[in-house]
Parts: sequence; structure tokens; C-alpha cells
Amino acid sequence: MYRINCIGILTSGGDAPGMNAAIRSVTRTAIFNGIQVKAIYRGYKGLITGEIKEFHTEDVSNIIQRGGTILKTARCKEFMTPEGRQVAFETMQREGIDALVVIGGDGTFTGAHIFGQEYNVPIVGVPGTIDNDLWGTDSTIGYDTAMNTIVEAVDKIRDTANSHERLFFVEVMGRDAGFLALNSALASGAEAAIIPERLTKEDQLEELIKNGFRKSKNSSIVIVAESPSTGGAQGLAERMHREHPEYDVRVTILGHLQRGGSPKAYDRILASRMGVAAIDALLDEQRSIMIGIVNDEIVHVPFSKAIKDDKQVNPDKLGVLQILSI
Ligand code: F6P
Repeated sequence: MYRINCIGILTSGGDAPGMNAAIRSVTRTAIFNGIQVKAIYRGYKGLITGEIKEFHTEDVSNIIQRGGTILKTARCKEFMTPEGRQVAFETMQREGIDALVVIGGDGTFTGAHIFGQEYNVPIVGVPGTIDNDLWGTDSTIGYDTAMNTIVEAVDKIRDTANSHERLFFVEVMGRDAGFLALNSALASGAEAAIIPERLTKEDQLEELIKNGFRKSKNSSIVIVAESPSTGGAQGLAERMHREHPEYDVRVTILGHLQRGGSPKAYDRILASRMGVAAIDALLDEQRSIMIGIVNDEIVHVPFSKAIKDDKQVNPDKLGVLQILSI
């Protein structure tokens, strides 16, 4: 039995829309429960450098609608070393921080998992990443907003694709996962999604050509997941140029515009609920778990499972995409 008097909160890894809504929720829920909140800046780096400030409820006012993270973020190499984690633990002791809430993705939780075990620190994770690649949750904070951003961009690209009768390869983020690519392809009415999860099964580009994706249309949009294993949009365009020079091909790499902007309502609500759940979990003496959402219910997922990298895309969606692209 231990009592938590003070929590530290940080954001780490790639920023995601809705992280601020999560910071607000964690901070206010902690204060509501009589727990002091210390904001740690620049991810785990702030635990090493001691860049820490006490947060009061007004410190998180007017941030629910803001993209990025007011705590800044970083991918901290030092925290990956035992020496770095030792300094981080000493900072926690000096600051009187009893437990951590970490908001981030796979890398963030991998670090938290090791740190929590090494120093017996209670840590709860809130999934904030546009990639949606964490096992045990239907959605991560930022994923829905990023997908909406992609769809808006593709709607615009479609105008040129149509007017010039072109084939566009639109590259989207997602690291090694195809969630953003597959679902944004469905939502934007694209002809296909080329995703890492299908690579071992068939040559997706050849299949696309074979299926005659231009039989009834004079323009096409193909969403490509950024993973090096797909060849990326540029690689596929070069291949088309060599193997099918009859197509007028263009490439758009959406890049970091996918990570920015005001979070959509879905991500704000998700972040608000997950932030409350993170503090509830700590009060309930949970540790080394990620807060997830499954069928609209909050769940607890051990870090070891969340980061296992085996969240699957739903194969039915590929079938839907194929039917609807005739
Ligand atoms: O994990 C989020 C993400 O945006 C990935 O989709 C992408 O591969 C990566 O981060 C890009 O990282 P950075 O902003 O460091 O270039």
C-alpha cells in the first residue's frame, strides 16, 4: 500500500493532436483528487535535465483545442541508457514525484516499461500517437484527427487527379503500420491502399494494374503507407514510370501536416476520458499499464502487450476498398 501525493506528467515521441486535451484531463483529475501535479518538459529529457514545473488547474486552461503539446516532446536517447534512467529516478526523488503519467506511443511505453521495472515506479500510459499502432486499444489519441486531415488533403488532390486524368500516389504516415493508409483510403474513396501488412502476400501494385483500376475511370488515387517496405510513394511512382509509362503519375507526400492542427471532437473526448482513467488507475494501484478504449469502454493494457507490435489491420476493409473501387 502506498499513497500517491504527487504525479509527474510528460509527453514523449511524435506529437499528436489531442495530447493537450490529455494533459488537461490528467492535471485536473489529479488536482480534483488532491494530488499535486508536476509538468515535465521535453519528454524523458526533462526528467534528466530537471526541467519541471508545478501545474495548477489554470495552467491547462484554453488548451483543449490546441494541437501539438504544451509540454514539448522529444525522443530521448539518454533515457535508453541505464545511466540516463538513474538520473531520471534521482530527479523524481528530488522533486517528490511518486508516479508518472506518460503520454505517447510505442517508444514512450517501451521506456516506461523498463523504467517502471528497474525502479519500481508506478507508471500509467495514455496512448497519444497518430499511428494507432498500439495493441489493446481501438484508437489512439490523434489518429482520428490525422485521418480527417488526410481525407481533406486527398479531396483536394482529387480535383487535379480528375482534371489532368492522372494517377496520384499519396504517401501517409504510420511508421510500420497501415491503419492511417487503409482507413483514409476508405474514407477518401481512393482506389487502393498499399500497406506493409499485405506485403508478404502479393505485389499490390501489380494486382492494382491487373484489376484494371482505370477501366471505368480516368483518374486514380492510391494511398501508400510510408513504411520503407512499401517502397513509399516515390518508389512506386518510379516503378510505374519504368513498367507502365502510359500512366501520367504524380506523387504527394503529406508529411508532418498530418500531425498538426486542432484535435477533432473524437480525439478531445478520448483524451478527456483517458486522462481521468489514468489517474483512477494510479489511485487503484495499477502500474505499467496503458489506458485503452475497446467498444467505447476504458480498458487497462499491460505495457508488455501494448508495445508488442502485433495490432492487426482488419482484412475485411481491404475487401471493401476493392469492391468500391470498380
Ligand atoms: O509516430 C508518429 C510519426 O509521425 C510516424 O508516423 C512517423 O514515421 C514518425 O513519427 C516521424 O517522426 P519525426 O517527426 O521524428 O520525423
